[in-house]
Amino acid sequence: MEWTNEARYRTCDSMTVEERKKLELSVSRSLWRQRYHIQPPYGLLNDPNGFVWYKDRYYLFYQWFPFGAVHGMKHWYQTASADLVNWENKGVAVKPELPFESHGIYSGSGFVHNEFLYLFYTANKRDEEWNRHASQCLIIMDDKGKMIKQDTPIIKKQPKGYTEHFRDPKVWKGKNSFYMVVGAQREDLTGCVLLYESDNLKNWNWLGELKTKEVDFGFMWECPDYFEWQNHGVLLFSPQGLPPEGDYFQNIYQSGAYIGKPLDIENNYFEHGAFQELDAGFDFYAPQTTLSPDGKRLLVGWMGLPEIEYPTDKEGWAHCLTIPRELSIKDNILYQKPVRELQEKRKNKVKRALNICESIENVEEFSGQSYEMIVDIEVGSAKSAGLKLRVGEEEETLLYLNKLAQKVVLDRTKAGESFAQEYGTIRQKAYLKEKIRLHIFMDVSSVEVFVNDGEIVFTARLFPQEESCGVQFFAEEGIANFEAVQWKYE
Ligand code: FRU
Repeated sequence: MEWTNEARYRTCDSMTVEERKKLELSVSRSLWRQRYHIQPPYGLLNDPNGFVWYKDRYYLFYQWFPFGAVHGMKHWYQTASADLVNWENKGVAVKPELPFESHGIYSGSGFVHNEFLYLFYTANKRDEEWNRHASQCLIIMDDKGKMIKQDTPIIKKQPKGYTEHFRDPKVWKGKNSFYMVVGAQREDLTGCVLLYESDNLKNWNWLGELKTKEVDFGFMWECPDYFEWQNHGVLLFSPQGLPPEGDYFQNIYQSGAYIGKPLDIENNYFEHGAFQELDAGFDFYAPQTTLSPDGKRLLVGWMGLPEIEYPTDKEGWAHCLTIPRELSIKDNILYQKPVRELQEKRKNKVKRALNICESIENVEEFSGQSYEMIVDIEVGSAKSAGLKLRVGEEEETLLYLNKLAQKVVLDRTKAGESFAQEYGTIRQKAYLKEKIRLHIFMDVSSVEVFVNDGEIVFTARLFPQEESCGVQFFAEEGIANFEAVQWKYE
């Protein structure tokens, strides 16, 4: 099918029964549907939106284009969960209806105030010349799920000095006011964040650009998120256009954080350290955080990237979200670890200790497509040691320690159906400690690896054959010790 503008800019209401059935049939034949990740019923998912705890449950929306695996008319799709493990699909929540949102409901955030859930989003409109117009908008939801959309934007357009790339509002409460950050682009085509203030969540004043140490750091900053954590200020954002630097910034676009002092609101100033890339893997973008009712800072990201073709595109669906992760800060470094609640999924524990000398050992009991595994590795005298995952006749995904280089390596060169190869098939990152723990979450078409309690995280999509389920341990040129525990996920 040819994706003309007419085909891309339709709302879900215009989908015929035949179109839906065709998509559902195609998705049902896919080898790569996930078992425990949030994924679209069909069509394309991208950013997580409006992640929030409201009235005894988490709400987590996502960017959704219903008609196929391309970017077009975006809607917000709604999911909800009481436990961060079992998510209920609740269908389309916000769709384009008003003239200023004629080309999509773009990303945004949720904020609970006076018993209501305030959902802030960007309305995207194209005019006859296909020029973009972006405004920030609000829809208010009550505890019955009823939504009332404000019929005019709360921020009509970008301030002078900035382009129409003005989107992704994230709101929080400060000492005396509510604040909002919005991703933006200066007229000199560099990215930044704009800061707004309000005392009622409906009328917003522009405070200015959030001054950071970087004035030329990519051409656009998408999906900003600001929060304060244990006397630190943290700004997450997804800068576009950073050139690769050694092992860093290898993907088409990046996501990361500045950690610093709490914002100096009076002066719009953020005193912060160096940019920290949030993920060392291949497929991670536009993360969003929220606060749990017991005060944890949780993060979910899009397990995908813009402008990359994925193997499921031809099946009429694409992408998923990451598992929810809990954030913490140690020595000014942001750590991510899987939320505790996921332990509820642990079934059929298998435990093995292995001492491997210049060989490869297959552990049949560990074979599978969907599991959690914790592997402690002592590299000992070996030059490199690690795991081969999703092993089949011709397929394998390597996760290992290169002792000489002191790096953890994820190699998907032979993982299965290839994609995004122009960005390379190997990712690696230096590790700090000698003893390494790999905490692995494997699903049918993805892997998430948390190294040493989340000091490094690798997130990647993998598209192997169904039969490629093997798990092997190896050590090269010497001896290595492994202790491994695994739980299969249903
Ligand atoms: C990030 C992004 C956002 C935008 C949305 C549109 O992936 O480009 O900046 O709001 O996706 O789907």
